Amino acid sequence: MAVKFNEETKTFTLQTSKSTYKMKVDSYGMLLHTYYGFPTDESDLSYLIAPDDHGFSGQVGEIIDDRTYSMDYFPLEYAVHGNSDFRISALRAGKKGDVPALDLRYVSHEIRQGKYSLPGLPALFAAPGEEDVSTLEITLKDAYEEIYVKLLYGVFEKKNVITRSAVIENRMEVPMELHRAMSMSLDYLDEELDLVHFYGKHVGERQFERRPLTHGITEIASVRGNSSHQHNPFVILCEKNATEDQGGCWGYSLLYSGSFRFRVEYDQLDSTRIVCGISDNEFVWDLAPGESFVTPEVVLTYTSEGFSDLSAGLHRAYMDNLIRSPWKYKKRPALVNNWEATYFDFNALKLVTIANHAADLGLDMLVLDDGWFGKRDNDKAGLGDWYVNERKLGCSLQDLATQINRMGLMFGIWVEPEMVNQDSDLYRKHPEWVLEIPGRMPNQARNQLVLDLSNREVIAFMKESLDAIIDSANVEYIKWDMNRCVDNIYSTANPGLSQGAIRHLYVLGLYEVQEHVLTRHPNLLMEGCNGGGGRFDAGMLYYVPQVWCSDNTDAIERLRIHYGTSFGYPMSAVGAHVSACPNHQNGRVVPFKTRGVCAMQGSFGYELDLSKLTEEEKAEAREQIRFYNENYDLIQQGTYYRLTSPFENHDYTAWSYVAPDQTRAILAAVHTDLHGNPKPRRVKLKGLQKDALYEADGTVYTGAALMQGGVVLPKPECNYDSYLICIRKIR
Ligand code: DGJ
Repeated sequence: MAVKFNEETKTFTLQTSKSTYKMKVDSYGMLLHTYYGFPTDESDLSYLIAPDDHGFSGQVGEIIDDRTYSMDYFPLEYAVHGNSDFRISALRAGKKGDVPALDLRYVSHEIRQGKYSLPGLPALFAAPGEEDVSTLEITLKDAYEEIYVKLLYGVFEKKNVITRSAVIENRMEVPMELHRAMSMSLDYLDEELDLVHFYGKHVGERQFERRPLTHGITEIASVRGNSSHQHNPFVILCEKNATEDQGGCWGYSLLYSGSFRFRVEYDQLDSTRIVCGISDNEFVWDLAPGESFVTPEVVLTYTSEGFSDLSAGLHRAYMDNLIRSPWKYKKRPALVNNWEATYFDFNALKLVTIANHAADLGLDMLVLDDGWFGKRDNDKAGLGDWYVNERKLGCSLQDLATQINRMGLMFGIWVEPEMVNQDSDLYRKHPEWVLEIPGRMPNQARNQLVLDLSNREVIAFMKESLDAIIDSANVEYIKWDMNRCVDNIYSTANPGLSQGAIRHLYVLGLYEVQEHVLTRHPNLLMEGCNGGGGRFDAGMLYYVPQVWCSDNTDAIERLRIHYGTSFGYPMSAVGAHVSACPNHQNGRVVPFKTRGVCAMQGSFGYELDLSKLTEEEKAEAREQIRFYNENYDLIQQGTYYRLTSPFENHDYTAWSYVAPDQTRAILAAVHTDLHGNPKPRRVKLKGLQKDALYEADGTVYTGAALMQGGVVLPKPECNYDSYLICIRKIR
């Protein structure tokens, strides 16, 4: 077992292939966090705490005589509010009506084989036949009340991943109130760390940013009800010297698609605490006697081998142990989506024409985007009316799907089930189904309001509508969109309930409906979307194997978005399409070839009117589709290497994929700037066998030459020229 408990020293040691994680129960029953980092032995490392009287750091409970013992600077495993620890905390709770305060002490623990699961929430699982996965459950209890906290740990030994979640139990006879219930906290003794996080905006998600942690509190969070375009629930803490190839880095990925909060405090003794979980902004949760509250899971990983290794480990774990879709290892259909081709202005004839071209080029699927239902000719009306607009389409959905299928293409369709326009039959019939604060005009966004997913009737309606759409034709794929943030928080269906619970109930409702759809339609390929990548998080990947990565379809801006996304998420999850030029978001013109190279970084497709392609572009598209069909396994499942950073290298961006057995690789590079009299541009590969011989573009190299020397990129012949080659081991 990867989890050991030493009875004598009361030390827990969790071992993975590249890390050790340690906790200790001390003589007062406090659960201390004593280590997470490079693999070490089972020693009790609590001596490193070196207790001292640091002044203005008091004592908790009965510990009155020892002024060197303070929760205010001891490294704790699950920091709570109210026990003389003035740093940021994970849990702020107590009897309803009382001042929230807790003093948690160790009660018991249990170690078992296999991985725990979490009711109604995404969680990693042990893959079939994966035996090296264990669960540790530690029970803590408040020193005064029958309030229990179960700390759950999943240890994936070979995958080098540890998961955490906390379950808060009210075993009192009176109600309890949670004001903050985070998934974890973790303390570092005195490392000087940098924070890497991924900020952004609509049409510019997951931009890489690295900054030193300075004294005080740093926060990365969303209060928007979705994990958001602006911040991502994945951060890395790393040593100052960490690079792609070396240095200690710790990844923290929250499996949650709603409002979240990561806080990092660099404190008076230069210690660092990280806390993360559901956003406690507006959060209040009532826990009746006998009830429990389950926090979302966090995935932790540590490696001493830099960001590349950190990402590769997470990619593997998410492919094998998080994504459940039967599509996860399959070739994702190369598709054409009609959104940027037609927007709302289409009928069956236009779609069939696009589909004809798609079939001719060798694509696999046509996706019918927004505008096929209700009175939906623009974004002002029709959301919520999930019946096909035959007047507009000119035929039924089934007829359309049949025509598409006859061409040898799959048929996919867009939905946005969480939303409603006020100008819709649904809103006219059920105005009480939206989130809306009584007596106030609701805040609008894209002319739509948010359905109240804490309302059981709404959940039932969503399930029925989605089943009806999928059953009405041969729908093999749905793109699940969401085009505004969750606002106007008030649920008329739950007037007695604390409104501070609504945001979390919303996420639970969303997960419930998605689970229902996947259970009812097990072979369905579901793509996530939230105005592009507003809900690109690990929680969502439990339900969907891919997400439309951004509404920005410009190949050059996508370089940065894909780069940032790749730190925490597998490339197969990245939906990326070739679109028209001048680009609809920024007006940039990029060669057709380069648009293909950039879109070949994930689940590939087109988003333009294929009937308008020139013969030359059609030939290029055929070549792109052939390349994708031949290499999808590498693109979707090979080890992805970021070879340059688009945030640092403004001349070109390069990346590669390497097969697990290192016999094949793909090198891709895009020139992002032009110069007169340019210097040679050399790219070093990674992850090959140094002694093997490889052939690339007609030249034979040793692996060592490719990795230590690199390849010289051909001189760009035009703006944004690109390079995509296959590298094969020949000996
Ligand atoms: C936002 C999505 O990201 C787009 O791809 C498209 O589906 C539109 N919504 C449709 O309204």
